[in-house]
Amino acid sequence: MSIVYLDGTFLPIDEARISPMDRGFLFGDGIYEVIPSYGGRLVGFEPHMRRMGEGLAAIEIKLDTTLEDWRSIVEELIQRNGSGNLGIYIHVSRGADSRRHHAYPVGITPTVFAFAFEIPAAPRADKSAAPTYSVVTTEDLRWRRCNIKSTALLGNVMHFQQGYTGGHTETLLYNQQGELTEASACNVFVVKDGVVRTPPLDHQKLPGITRLMLLEILRRDGSIPVEETVISLEDLRAADEVWLTSSTKEIAPVVEIDGQAVGDGQVGNVWLAAQTLYSAHKFDF
Ligand code: PDD
Repeated sequence: MSIVYLDGTFLPIDEARISPMDRGFLFGDGIYEVIPSYGGRLVGFEPHMRRMGEGLAAIEIKLDTTLEDWRSIVEELIQRNGSGNLGIYIHVSRGADSRRHHAYPVGITPTVFAFAFEIPAAPRADKSAAPTYSVVTTEDLRWRRCNIKSTALLGNVMHFQQGYTGGHTETLLYNQQGELTEASACNVFVVKDGVVRTPPLDHQKLPGITRLMLLEILRRDGSIPVEETVISLEDLRAADEVWLTSSTKEIAPVVEIDGQAVGDGQVGNVWLAAQTLYSAHKFDF
């Protein structure tokens, strides 16, 4: 995992250099993506790049890189890093300025950085093999533009740490109305009486690509009802199953929330059906 891409060049990570005046470093002024790749096959490349384009537009970073340019960068990175199970991290910051000034500078060149990192093998639709999650809940104290996949992740990092220090693997977040938003690095799904529900998208949540693909796969299949609807903390506590979704986890079953078992505390049958469908169709996107 040692060859990275930086501003048009592939080079060993030890040789990659970024200015300390880069606004990504000084302000977290940038957008990122994480795209999974299994044995050289990318999952959701186009929707990931679409979301990246939307994030760059939202913060007014202009970049001429086309979808095909991105594809060749990502494919070369995979090929140079062994084509195993990889997460591809892409990071575009506004670039390095000559001074530290809050206003967007004119005429600087964005910094483009990408690297590959090892991820676990693709999750299998097998209840006994599924990694399970034990999580805590807390009020979502992040900013109100969580729909932008900003590199400024301190709010997410602090929330993740709240669970992590107690030996938990994620932190579920709810807003001031006691409605579930997402987790510190995942979207969230709840199952009750066979119906799969996830909170609707707004400025409080990242529009996850795994979420998008899972919803589309479930709707196309039609055998499991799905709804995008407000989920209260009470709904969460009464759920039969709770799942986290993210590019590096796919659909991860949560078996414990705040020390209480979710449903019967086991990985559920709806998870099994959903992961089976996801595994079969994830390369369609
Ligand atoms: N995290 N919500 C948040 C806050 C996230 O950071 C992520 C992804 C998701 C899921 O999005 P997707 O399905 O597109 O991966 C939801 C990435 C993987 C990360 O920061 O490493």
